[in-house]
Order: sequence, then C-alpha cells, then structure tokens
Amino acid sequence: MTDFQEYLHAKRAVDDRALNRRVLDCLRDELPDRSLEAVEIGAGVGTGITRLLDRGVLPETVSYTAIDYQPENIAAAREHLLERDFTEDRDRLRRGGSTVSLVIGDGLELVDNEQYDLLIAQAVLDLVDLDSALPPLFESISPGGLAYFPITFDGGTIFDPAHLLDERIFDLYHRDMDREGSSRTGRRLFSAIPAAGGEILAAGSSDWVVYPPYSSDERRFLSHILDIIENALADGAVGEELGEWLETRRKQLESEELTYIAHQLDVLCRVSYSVT
Ligand SMILES: C[S@@+](CC[C@H](N)C(=O)[O-])C[C@H]1O[C@@H](n2cnc3c(N)ncnc32)[C@H](O)[C@@H]1O
Repeated sequence: MTDFQEYLHAKRAVDDRALNRRVLDCLRDELPDRSLEAVEIGAGVGTGITRLLDRGVLPETVSYTAIDYQPENIAAAREHLLERDFTEDRDRLRRGGSTVSLVIGDGLELVDNEQYDLLIAQAVLDLVDLDSALPPLFESISPGGLAYFPITFDGGTIFDPAHLLDERIFDLYHRDMDREGSSRTGRRLFSAIPAAGGEILAAGSSDWVVYPPYSSDERRFLSHILDIIENALADGAVGEELGEWLETRRKQLESEELTYIAHQLDVLCRVSYSVT
C-alpha cells in the first residue's frame, strides 16, 4: 500500500464522522426506489462505495462505476471490495444486486455522453478547476438526476494549540491548493452549481474534527496531514521555520496534544436539464 492509500484508508473513519447527516438523508430520500446507474469521480480506494451501500443510502440494485486516474488506487479499491464480500463477475465486482466497474482514467473525460442517475465526487472538486469541471459532469447526469459533492474543502485549517507561524503556513498551504483547484471550492459551489444548470437540494458542513485521545486511524491520518502540508510547502516559501513548526506539531501529535479541524462542505444538487 502506498502512503497515499494508507492516508485514504485512515481518512475513512474521519469522513464517517464528518459527513453531514442531513445532506446524506436528503440523498437517500431523493434517490428513486429502482435500480440506479451511479458514477464516482476520484473514487480513491473505494471506501465511498461501501459506505453508501452499507448505510442503505443506495438502493439494493445499483450499477456503480468508480473512476480514478491512479491505477494503484483502483487496485486498492478492488482489494477493498473483495474484502467486503464482493466477488469477481467478468469485468465487474458483484455483491447481491450491486455491481461495481472499476475504471482507470480521467473522470472528467470518461463521463462524457453517459447518462447517470447519480454522480458522486468526494474530496475531489477542490482539486480541479470548478468552472470547467462542472459542465461535463452535469452533462453526464440524466435530466432530474443527482450530484453529491461531500467533503469539499472550504478554506479553513485550524490546529490547536495555536502557533505563531500558523497564519503564514496555512495561507501558503491554501495558496498551493489554489494552483490547480481552489481552497474555497465549498462556498463557490453555491454559485457554480446554479450557473451550470443545477439546483441545490441540501448543503451543510462536514468538518474534519480530530482531537485526542486518537484512534490508530486518527493518529495515522494526522501524521499524513502534516506530511501533506510539508509537501505542499516544499518550495521553501516558508523558510527554515517550517521545520520548526512541523517538529512542534509532530511532537504534539506524539504526546496527544494536537487538535485538527478542516472546514468542509457537503452539497447535494439536482440537474434538471442538460446544458449546452
Ligand atoms: C483526496 S482523494 C479522495 C479520494 C476519495 N474520493 C475519498 O474521499 O477517499 C482525490 C482522488 O481523486 C482522484 N482524482 C482527482 N481528479 C481526478 C480526475 N479528473 N479523474 C479521476 N480521478 C481523479 C485522485 O487520484 C485521488 O484518488
């Protein structure tokens, strides 16, 4: 397992707690009670699939296409599904009435010309250019279909206890996200979704809140978050003080003193008509 996959597995427990229940309930209520075609962009190691099935959000019969452009993630997703009682069925995985097709590739291109009942992108839209990503995604949803965008970062990184360098480090960390995506994608969805032809049905916060004492997943997760910040700031913009900040944070993690909060939003919308 790569570091990134270990991070995604550890993140699952933090996401489980963070996901906005009201938005999830609305998704469950709005989905038609019939067999469904669903697609997930940036499916990672596949934990989103089993979460939605095991929580009874998706109906018993769903045909689910999970796309990620990292082949190692797709291989890890296959492993995860096989561990969760899926079995190989030709080119798909099956459990009861649910089938999953695992696809390596760029989800923004692969969904083209499809007509899904439900499109999911969890912790993904903040990594891409929102204005150019939403139109092709919405065009792949059948009229009246749904799009669910949980765990969308929205510009808030908090560590406690406070450190003098926090403001500078978080500012540069967020600016690094802004190079390809946007650190404020969560709030931007409220204008971008209607502009692309969607109607927002439910929205709410899904902040990660991790505080001591940590479970083993939470400890691993926090360690990865510090690594992610270190990598994002590897261009040296912070200077030598970054090393001191990281050392302090890693010691606080070790001694179970560190609290971490990331502000995120879950948004569910309906795509009522096709946009040209
Ligand atoms: C932060 S991870 C989230 C993974 C998973 N959704 C989760 O929440 O655990 C983002 C994932 O999206 C994938 N990704 C980002 N943009 C993509 C695209 N255009 N097409 C396919 N996968 C993409 C990355 O490879 C990565 O696995």
